[in-house]
Amino acid sequence: MKTLIIYGTRKGCTKKCANILAKKINARVVDIKKAYQINLSDYNTVIIGSSIRIGKIVKKLKNWTSKNQKDLLTKQIGFFICSGDTKQNYIEMNYPAQLVEHAFATAYFGGELNIEDFGAIMRFMLKKKAGVTESYNRLDDKVINSFTGSCMKASA
Ligand SMILES: Cc1cc2nc3c(=O)[nH]c(=O)nc-3n(C[C@H](O)[C@H](O)[C@H](O)COP(=O)(O)O)c2cc1C
Repeated sequence: MKTLIIYGTRKGCTKKCANILAKKINARVVDIKKAYQINLSDYNTVIIGSSIRIGKIVKKLKNWTSKNQKDLLTKQIGFFICSGDTKQNYIEMNYPAQLVEHAFATAYFGGELNIEDFGAIMRFMLKKKAGVTESYNRLDDKVINSFTGSCMKASA
């Protein structure tokens, strides 16, 4: 029973979460940028993780998910999101409804943002549009552990 974690990140938080999860559930981790390496028929469980920018998941991941929708509907699938706000319905907003309904679990892990990663214009935008003026690390271990448990059950 093999598990794939495919993720899309901009600054690395989602990659970090994908790797934490992979260690716990013994899964293969692939960056969406290397999706060409994947043969979906090798897996019966697929976990899809993305970060959010201005309400949107990583575009390549969105395209890949839509393109593989038919195959994904034959597998156990789960979604997780890394974002500053954990109260939005980013999963429903970004993925096909049929896939979201099919998922055994969805989760909002929280997120990380390092203000030092951004230049003056981006910092201004972050302040103006999102009220973000300071770095934060708001990953929720409880949510990650609970999602891990669901993944273990699904892939058993
Ligand atoms: C330019 C920008 C826009 C963002 N927009 C949102 C947003 O619309 N909603 C949200 O909840 N978080 C937003 N965030 C926060 C990120 O989703 C969060 O920092 C996440 O952990 C980033 O993951 P990554 O390091 O994998 O890219 C934004 C961050 C940046 C830098």
